[in-house]
Amino acid sequence: MFNAIVIDKDDSGYRANLQQVNEEQLPEGDVTVAVAYSTLNFKDGLAITGSSPVVRKFPMVPGIDLAGTVEASSHPDYKVGDQVLLNGWGVGENHWGGLAQKARLNGDWLIPLPKAFTAAQAMAVGTAGYTAMLCILALERNGVTPEQGEVLVTGANGGVGSFAIALLSKLGYRVVASTGRVSEHEYLQQLGAGEIIDRATLSAPGKPLAKERWAAVIDSVGSHTLANACASTRSEGTVAACGLAQGMDFPASVAPFILRGVTLAGINSVTQPKARRLLAWERLAKDLDFSLLALISHEIGLSEAIEAAPKLLAGQLRGRVVVDVNR
Ligand SMILES: NC(=O)c1ccc[n+]([C@@H]2O[C@H](COP(=O)([O-])OP(=O)(O)OC[C@H]3O[C@@H](n4cnc5c(N)ncnc54)[C@H](OP(=O)(O)O)[C@@H]3O)[C@@H](O)[C@H]2O)c1
Repeated sequence: MFNAIVIDKDDSGYRANLQQVNEEQLPEGDVTVAVAYSTLNFKDGLAITGSSPVVRKFPMVPGIDLAGTVEASSHPDYKVGDQVLLNGWGVGENHWGGLAQKARLNGDWLIPLPKAFTAAQAMAVGTAGYTAMLCILALERNGVTPEQGEVLVTGANGGVGSFAIALLSKLGYRVVASTGRVSEHEYLQQLGAGEIIDRATLSAPGKPLAKERWAAVIDSVGSHTLANACASTRSEGTVAACGLAQGMDFPASVAPFILRGVTLAGINSVTQPKARRLLAWERLAKDLDFSLLALISHEIGLSEAIEAAPKLLAGQLRGRVVVDVNR
């Protein structure tokens, strides 16, 4: 038996509970992992609260990230005792995820835990930090460099936003952080934000084109914020879009794309091929100031994850939540 958060949906409603699960109930897979740490991402918040139809099958164990040690394997790349890491692949949505002491997975979804990280550090980074790095790789593929000007990061206090600021700043960019919590200016400055703007300046309906300001944008917010970010991106600039914290809509015009040559780069961390995952984690090992991990993340136990989920969605938590599944 092991501890897991289990989400159920039936005639009596949608609910998430911490409960004991029999190992025989684990889904099919060729690698069984003793999970050390998982995390709470925006998507896990949606899954646990049921506020968006993230979970496709019931019962479901949420948790889109996990790090731990291989306990059994028939996959050629992994043997007992290997340290492994997983981000995405629909885990926690279609397949039992990391908010449990054990997980059974398809070994093709795993990558070896990069040597630079402990399991807890890798989870402090998690899908949020890995996605921030995927955004940066997209900017680089489009030729963005620090000399070209300011980079806007939206959703600044969130997981993706926090890592985007820290990484861009370390890489030499001047970062402008957009947030609804300007009171957190000290935190954002410690991450490396050069300027902080109120997200209200971007979140209302705007014009198809605005004054050119950003050389590039990393947006985890979507909706009017993404539309306004595109409208104020400089000629030939790049906007990496990865999130929908404000909304899934995109009430924009084509003007920035056809009149200014702006590139909109979509970022999907979930099904990235293994080579790009390995590259993103290699770059995280190189370009992240590890001393910021304690500032960006805080740790909770598995028993606290359910009550933390609505707070995360309400924007009451800062940065990243690491979950020690063994307490
Ligand atoms: N494409 C992918 O593969 C991928 C991967 C990871 C995450 N995501 C998506 O990226 C987004 C952020 O994820 P996360 O883990 O960083 O979440 P998070 O930690 O909850 O951060 C989201 C941040 O967005 C801002 N925000 C929240 N509600 C908002 C609103 N109504 N209007 C404007 N800003 C708002 C808040 O920042 P402030 O308080 O600073 O304003 C909040 O901290 C989510 O939509 C998530 O699903 C996508």
